Amino acid sequence: MTATAPAAHRAATAPRGDEIVLRTRDLTKQYGKRLAVDRLNIEVRRGEIFGFLGPNGAGKTTTIRMALGLIAPTSGSVEILGGDIATHRATILPRVGALVETPALYLYMSGRDNLRAVAAVLGGVPEARMDAVLDLVGLRARARDRVKTYSLGMKQRLGVAIALLQDPDLLVLDEPANGLDPAGIVEMRDLLRRLAAEGKTVFISSHVLTEVRQICTRVAIVNLGRLVTESTVEDLVRGSGDFTVTVERAADALALVRAQPWGRGARLDGDGTLITPAPNNRGRELTRFLVDAGFVPDSLAPRAQDLEEVFLRLTDNGNGVAK
Ligand SMILES: Nc1ncnc2c1ncn2[C@@H]1O[C@H](COP(=O)(O)OP(=O)(O)OP(=O)(O)O)[C@@H](O)[C@H]1O
Ligand SMILES: [Mg+2]
Repeated sequence: MTATAPAAHRAATAPRGDEIVLRTRDLTKQYGKRLAVDRLNIEVRRGEIFGFLGPNGAGKTTTIRMALGLIAPTSGSVEILGGDIATHRATILPRVGALVETPALYLYMSGRDNLRAVAAVLGGVPEARMDAVLDLVGLRARARDRVKTYSLGMKQRLGVAIALLQDPDLLVLDEPANGLDPAGIVEMRDLLRRLAAEGKTVFISSHVLTEVRQICTRVAIVNLGRLVTESTVEDLVRGSGDFTVTVERAADALALVRAQPWGRGARLDGDGTLITPAPNNRGRELTRFLVDAGFVPDSLAPRAQDLEEVFLRLTDNGNGVAK
């Protein structure tokens, strides 16, 4: 699934939804003995909101710094909008908006003056564009206030506004929701949705899956510098094979199920719901088994995998720590 429709107004520059906007080829960064990024291959297509996920220290920021040409890879390469960043940085970067870690803002200036300051450096940014980006990030009403009076979420959104000034084709955001409270995360998510509706390609990193799961079309999960998986969110959470069963005397039912050859993986979740495999993976066989044993379920349904669970499993390094 690609989001080609919203990009229609950019048809002159965005003829195809399957165009690769960002590609890494065996991208590698070594710091001393530590491989921060290890032969990473990812592809981001036009119109996608691509989630780049991994625990602390996984190599996300290092990858993004290499992608933006801020640091050189040890080996491998990055292609953005068809050009190699190592050799075409000057022509590529004006088409890329980026927010790496926290934005550098002038706290004693207004939001708008921060935009003006950056615009002066960039050159050729009309005032109308500043209005447009302030609208987009929801800061128009606060644009005259000093940035030091902004909440963290507002500062982050101002950082995104700065990244948007040149109307880039690609936005690269390194943990834009980092440190935000739930309301700030919702605002950031809404903002990213608006960007997607504008036809932007968005590459967003996060170590918190729930922050991005509702908005990303695809995700790559990295751990210890390596790509663990790259897929759609739907595929990630697709059936675990388990069923969720609400039943009275769940602990007794659990003991019985676990004694069966197919039921060893059964467990209770926090609120006492039985989570169990089924004989031959068939819900009806599980129902029959339970009923025959005197446990008539109140409900029984296939269980979608919890994305957080998938993430933790895929990034588990044995000791639960990712360094
Ligand atoms: N300049 C550096 N010198 C040495 N090691 C570094 C440097 N920058 C990063 N590293 C190491 O590279 C690995 C990846 O770090 P990176 O900052 O890319 O991870 P991350 O995924 O962005 O983590 P976080 O979620 O904490 O931001 C870590 O082990 C880190 O200690
Ligand atoms: Mg980081």
